[in-house]
Amino acid sequence: MKVEASAPGKCILFGEHAVVFGQPAVAVAIEQRIQVSIEAIEGEDWKLEGMRFDPKKHPHIDTLRHRLWPSEAGAPALSIQVNGDIPRASGLGSSAALSVAASAALRAARGRWLTEQGSGTEMWAEGYASTINDTDAYGSNEGPKVGLRPSKVQHKSILCSGVEAVNEDECALLSHAVEASAQGGRASPMDASTCAHGGILLLSDVIEEDANHLYQRQLEMSDATRTWQLHELTVPKGGDEVYLVIGNTGVHAPTSAQVAKVARAIERNPERMKEIETIGVISRRGILALKQGDFEAVGRAMTENQVMLQGLGVSCPELDALVRAAAPSALGAKLTGAGGGGCMVALTRDPKATSEAIELAGGRTLISTFGNDGLRVEMAQGVPFWSPA
Ligand code: PMV
Repeated sequence: MKVEASAPGKCILFGEHAVVFGQPAVAVAIEQRIQVSIEAIEGEDWKLEGMRFDPKKHPHIDTLRHRLWPSEAGAPALSIQVNGDIPRASGLGSSAALSVAASAALRAARGRWLTEQGSGTEMWAEGYASTINDTDAYGSNEGPKVGLRPSKVQHKSILCSGVEAVNEDECALLSHAVEASAQGGRASPMDASTCAHGGILLLSDVIEEDANHLYQRQLEMSDATRTWQLHELTVPKGGDEVYLVIGNTGVHAPTSAQVAKVARAIERNPERMKEIETIGVISRRGILALKQGDFEAVGRAMTENQVMLQGLGVSCPELDALVRAAAPSALGAKLTGAGGGGCMVALTRDPKATSEAIELAGGRTLISTFGNDGLRVEMAQGVPFWSPA
C-alpha cells in the first residue's frame, strides 16, 4: 500500500502582493518539484521522514489531515516521505507544492465516493471544488464528517480511487485554504492553483478573453472579501526559446510577515493603494505582451514591476544585487514571491550567461523552462487504504 504524488514549484512573472488586493498576476510552474509518498502504518502515531509527526511544525499537512484523513472516522496512521528540489521558504511555492502533492496523495489513497458513474462534481458524494458549496475547505468544521456532502452522501454507490479520484481544482482549493490559514488569513490562490494545474496561470478581477477560464475563488479577509478569476494561458510562440533563471539569495523571509507588512503600510497610509494599482497596470501590460509572444516587452514589464516592489519595501539589498547582476544578459528581472529575501527570477534567451552573472553576485541558481506539468499521481498501489463508511 503506497501512494506517491508530486507537484511543481512556481515563480511569479508579475503581480505578487498586488494580487492579494485583487490585482492581476501571472505565475509559471517550474521544472523543480516536490514528491510526497504515503504508506499506512500500524499504531496511532503518524511519521514524517521516519520521525514522529509534529502537527505544530507541519501545519500544512496537519490541516489536510483534518480535511481528508480524520482519525476520528477510523483513518489509519500514515508514514509520509517528502523529497524534491524546490528550496524551502524562498518564494518558489514550496509550501503550496507540498500541500498540492499531499492532498493528491491523500485523495488517491482515500478514494472518492460517487453517487453514480461520471466525472462531474455533481456526482460526488464527498469532496471540495469551486462548483460545490455544501462543503467548506476554508472552515474549521473538523471532524469525521468533514468533506462529506450532506444531501448526496446517502446515495453513494461507487468508490473510485487512485488517479481517478484526484481532482486538480480540489487540490488547489484545499491548498489555498491551508496557505490562507498559514498566512494569517491573507493569501491569494496563485501559488496553490499554479502548483496544481501547472503551465501558466493568470489571475484577474474579471474573466479574461484569450485565456482558458478555470474557476473563481473567493476568500474573506479581515478588510474585505476578495474574488479572483483564475485562467490558464497557453505558452506563446517562441516560449521554447526563453528561460527562467532563478537566483536564490539564501536569505530567509517568511511570506506571512511580508504580506502583513504590506497590509500595515496601506492601512497606515491608504494613498499607497495607488502603488498596488500601478503594479496592476504593469501586470496588464505584461499579460498582453505574453499573449502576443513579445518576450522583450514581458521582460520590460518584469523590470518595471521590480521598481514598484522596491518602492513597496518588499525587496532587499541581496535581491537588488542579483537583479542588477542579471540585467545585462536578461530581458527583465525581478524578485519572485513575497520578497525580503528568497529568490529573484530573470527572463533570458541566454540562460548560461544570466546564471553565471547571478552566481558571481552570490546567488545560487536554478534554470527552468515555461509550461511545466502540474500535479501528478506517480504511484497508487493497494488503494484505497481507507474510505469513510
Ligand atoms: O513567497 P511565496 O512563494 O509564498 O509567494 C507569495 C506571493 C504573495 O503575492 C506575496 C502572497 C500571495 O498570497 O499571493
